[in-house]
Amino acid sequence: MSQLHTIILDTDPGIDDAMALLLALASPEIALIGVTTVFGNSHVAATTRNALNLLHFAGRADIPVAMGADQPLVLPRGRTGEHVHGPDAMGNIGWDAVHNPNQRPLAIHAAQFIAETIMQRPGQVTIVAVGPLTNLALALQLEPRIAEHVRAVVVMGGAFLVPGNVSPLAESNIYRDPHAAAKVFAAGWPLTVAGLDVTTAVRMDNAYFAALKESRSRFAEFICRIVPFYQAFHREVRGYRDGAINPHDVCAIAYVLEPALFAGEQWRVMVLTDGPARGATIPDRADRHWSTPKVHCLTRVDSARLLAAFHERISRAI
Ligand code: BDR
Ligand code: CA
Repeated sequence: MSQLHTIILDTDPGIDDAMALLLALASPEIALIGVTTVFGNSHVAATTRNALNLLHFAGRADIPVAMGADQPLVLPRGRTGEHVHGPDAMGNIGWDAVHNPNQRPLAIHAAQFIAETIMQRPGQVTIVAVGPLTNLALALQLEPRIAEHVRAVVVMGGAFLVPGNVSPLAESNIYRDPHAAAKVFAAGWPLTVAGLDVTTAVRMDNAYFAALKESRSRFAEFICRIVPFYQAFHREVRGYRDGAINPHDVCAIAYVLEPALFAGEQWRVMVLTDGPARGATIPDRADRHWSTPKVHCLTRVDSARLLAAFHERISRAI
């Protein structure tokens, strides 16, 4: 774990996005060189405000934020995720009212920031994408050579061998912009995907959050402040008990930090873009039918070790 990872986080904060961002900031192995924002858990103005506020709260307002897509590539934008993450998409802690005129996103679009940063630092930059994949697809369109020059791409999205969470087959990030996801899955870059197969196997419950809060770290206290709205959603819609949630986006950062926590398969994956199976991510498990590049699809996770690593890092962030 001593190797330094240079990361751009593409995100739609979002409660689990915030947890993933704080995990990255609490990890000395990660150099977070930019945050790019996308619609998803809310419209992009709100997810950008949340990203700026999170970095300010964490004392890292030096990290640039580039605002990205507010619409999918082709389809109309569907309902954004305030019913999951709160009216402010940050657990209803009142960030709607926060406006700090000194905190602004960069003047360039997220896709341009991604493309330029990868080309300036060939072979160095890892993109971690935990929202709809629109910015990544636009960056590939702007500069196709990023596929050769990126170090790695890690996505939270999809459901390979398990049910979806917004339809019988589809996971939310892929469903929101399936055309972008299809481009990202077919780009031929070193792509690892942490889908619901692994993210729903990880649960943080009341006892876990109580232990986290005991550490009295600022990050832990903040997470315990934003998480109740997300807990209520998981209780009502998923039927989870004891305040359990799935910290989906955390898994993508955890993979960067410690890939050995996960196991997976190299599959060619088709993303369906319309019809009742819109957003489905179908792996060719027999490797006989499709010719798109193979993608590293995570299928198993050591949940206990992941939870311990998150606790350890967040609780030392004073
Ligand atoms: C994904 O959808 C969003 O609500 C979460 O932030 C996560 O990225 C899980 O399906
Ligand atoms: Ca997200």
